[in-house]
Amino acid sequence: MGMRHMGGAGTGCAAQPRESGLLDQLALVEPELENRLREGMGRAEKWLRATADDASDPRVCAVTGHLAGAGGKRLRPLLVLLGAEFGDPWRDGITQAAVIAELVHIASLHHDDVMDGAPTRHGVPSAHARFGERTAVLGGDWLLARAAQLAAELGPEAVRINARAAGSLVAGQLRELTGPAPGEPPVTHYFQVIAGKTAALLSMSLGVGALQAGAPERSVTALTEYGEQLGLAFQIADDLLDLSAPAEHTGKERGTDLLGGVPTLPVLLALESDDPADAELRELLAAGPVPAASARRALELFARSPALAETEAVLRRRLDRARAALDVLPQLPARHALLALCDYVAHRTS
Ligand code: FPP
Ligand code: MG
Repeated sequence: MGMRHMGGAGTGCAAQPRESGLLDQLALVEPELENRLREGMGRAEKWLRATADDASDPRVCAVTGHLAGAGGKRLRPLLVLLGAEFGDPWRDGITQAAVIAELVHIASLHHDDVMDGAPTRHGVPSAHARFGERTAVLGGDWLLARAAQLAAELGPEAVRINARAAGSLVAGQLRELTGPAPGEPPVTHYFQVIAGKTAALLSMSLGVGALQAGAPERSVTALTEYGEQLGLAFQIADDLLDLSAPAEHTGKERGTDLLGGVPTLPVLLALESDDPADAELRELLAAGPVPAASARRALELFARSPALAETEAVLRRRLDRARAALDVLPQLPARHALLALCDYVAHRTS
């Protein structure tokens, strides 16, 4: 790795985080909850940035702080704070748990972008595009190590949950790499993959927030189930965005997954479809990763494909299950926020 790749303006140690705006999109009506969440998110953001920039060598912190400084939705910290609302949200360790969840997430993005060959993330060059693959992977490992260190301060339960979430992420990603087992239906395999790589950390975020706040076991169980379903829906929405959202919204090029041959849910359902309206699309997809020259046509076909409509229906069903999981929770303002989060995922544009 040449020094010319390191540091530089705009990202790394000196970067300012972009406002995620996720809280604004939830349109919270209860000022006390809104203030508590805004303050909590502010504290978590500062702590996250300080942690990611905490390497002793500024050239190292340029790498570890790169994606943290580029922003992101900060969904996982928000889920930790919302989970904590079902216990005592003023207890120690809640902000720390929120930082841990985001550190694990950012670490995984360092690795994921290498694996996907993704050129951009959060509207900036991905860590590997900027610093090279080996440096980006090690930067991710460093963030993961910091997450473990923070979890150790919270105690053995936090360490166990953190380790399990990181293990699920890796297992999900590995399953994606190995593909379906012989005889395993591709859609079943798909759900195994996204349960590991996306839903596990969302579910863990809610659960750890609730546990840290001393919420009753029944609430912890309900929140982790909600997080699982929300996480599956969130990844399906991500698959849909790859086909529809412009790069200005998502921070990555439209069709990246399609061109990379990633078996997203709309692709799998198009391949399985026997609807004549999907015939041309099926033929294009069956030939392997869509070549750049056919990308525009594939996106056009997807826009009016029954497979896309079916993907949207699957997304809606998962969100219904997430909402249903909330039924046993007390009628607190945070419960309304979790319902609003389902609406946000249903209409996600970034
Ligand atoms: C994004 O999926 C990928 C993930 C959410 C998880 C990636 C996990 C790993 C790389 C395993 C390593 C984990 C740790 C903890 C170091 P995507 O590519 O479908 O979504 P994208 O469009 O946001 O890239
Ligand atoms: Mg990716």
